[in-house]
Amino acid sequence: RLIRGRVLTFVAEPKGIDDTAAWRYFEDGAVLVRGGKVVDTGDYADISKLAGADVEVADHRPHLVLPGLIDTHLHFPQTQAIASYGAQLLEWLNTYIFVEEQKFAEAAHAAAVADRFMDELLSNGTTTAVAYCSVHAESVDAYFTAAEARGMRMIGGKVMMDRNAPDALRDTPQQGYDETKALIAKWHGRGRALYAISPRFAITSTPEQMEMSQTLVAEHPECYVQTHLSENRDEIAFATSLYPAAKDYTDIYARYGLLNERMLLGHCIYLSDREISALAESGAVGVFCPTSNLFLGSGLFDRDRFDRLGARWSVATDVGGGTSFSMLETMDEAYKVLHLQGQRLTPFASFYRMTLGNARALGLEKQIGSLHAGADADIVVLDSSGKSAMEYRMRTARSLAEELFILQTMGDDRCVAEVYVAGKPMKAKGKRATAASRF
Ligand code: GUN
Ligand code: FE
Repeated sequence: RLIRGRVLTFVAEPKGIDDTAAWRYFEDGAVLVRGGKVVDTGDYADISKLAGADVEVADHRPHLVLPGLIDTHLHFPQTQAIASYGAQLLEWLNTYIFVEEQKFAEAAHAAAVADRFMDELLSNGTTTAVAYCSVHAESVDAYFTAAEARGMRMIGGKVMMDRNAPDALRDTPQQGYDETKALIAKWHGRGRALYAISPRFAITSTPEQMEMSQTLVAEHPECYVQTHLSENRDEIAFATSLYPAAKDYTDIYARYGLLNERMLLGHCIYLSDREISALAESGAVGVFCPTSNLFLGSGLFDRDRFDRLGARWSVATDVGGGTSFSMLETMDEAYKVLHLQGQRLTPFASFYRMTLGNARALGLEKQIGSLHAGADADIVVLDSSGKSAMEYRMRTARSLAEELFILQTMGDDRCVAEVYVAGKPMKAKGKRATAASRF
């Protein structure tokens, strides 16, 4: 298949607004796809010569063709708990989230939500995501089964939590270990699936469960590790009170040997320089979740301090604390969060971050996040005039940078014209029926 359009892909992190060496842009471009992989990307005139005469052409002009978007932190069982009103983190978890996640004890429910979750990601142009499942092993089966049915490269794992949560959501250190072991054996590396060892956060894991997590990480260096860190002041006070021997919140995880370059730490808002430097030294990734940090009233992620101290960071929706599956809307909020702190996020840096930047955070830059020869053919087609107000605004746009910025600031799933997973078009055609009023 030959995918034709205005192709944009990155080769490096843009260092400034006009660092044109960081990206490749082909005004009349094409991506040649065969067997789920990118054969080559470039000018249509050159790439079409590589294709056989009988190649199927998908002509998306004048839309933009980019690598599929990547979301590095969200919660699959919170799909139906987005927009839960009025509480900050700990109250929100207890009032809404720990109630919602109990529904995933039922395999049929987990399977239904997993299907909808994957479709929602794809509608928003996200082809790879890293998600927490619920404490129930069945929820992980539902998650990877739904991903496999669509051919998606998805990362995830069973959340481990053995205290400060309702009975029905608690495992034990041994059970968390045994179930995680079995799920890794079943799913990690099966098709495109990759496993993330997932102790929820210090508050919901006893020292015994942290030790079990340490063992799992030591036994499975091929897997990711994910948790939450320094999101909210009450959370930090509670977490550090539970681990009095730790120097600070970050040190809780460091003491259990969890910090490594395959670790993703959600939020990282109130870290000291010492803590960010500890992340930098270990190669662990701080995950910026702008819509969630605003929605839960958590705080502002300080990207410049991460950059200055040499720590890695990525971006994510954090659905259901996050309010949208859209990475465009997420970067819109990221821009505003940084702006409030006098920091800039250029349009090219933003699109880099949703694609190659997040792929690098996952160590998957050979496979996803760009359209180089040999990459997986996960591709999104973006219509930068997907809403009427955008179309009117776009008439005055004078550069690609300006177009990208408008797309990010005003765009959402209505701007996703098509999405390809391993070369296959996946965008659900037609609108869903709207439910009649229930109230
Ligand atoms: N900290 C521990 N669990 C969660 C969660 O589900 N969402 C968010 N935003 N923070 C958390
Ligand atoms: Fe989260």
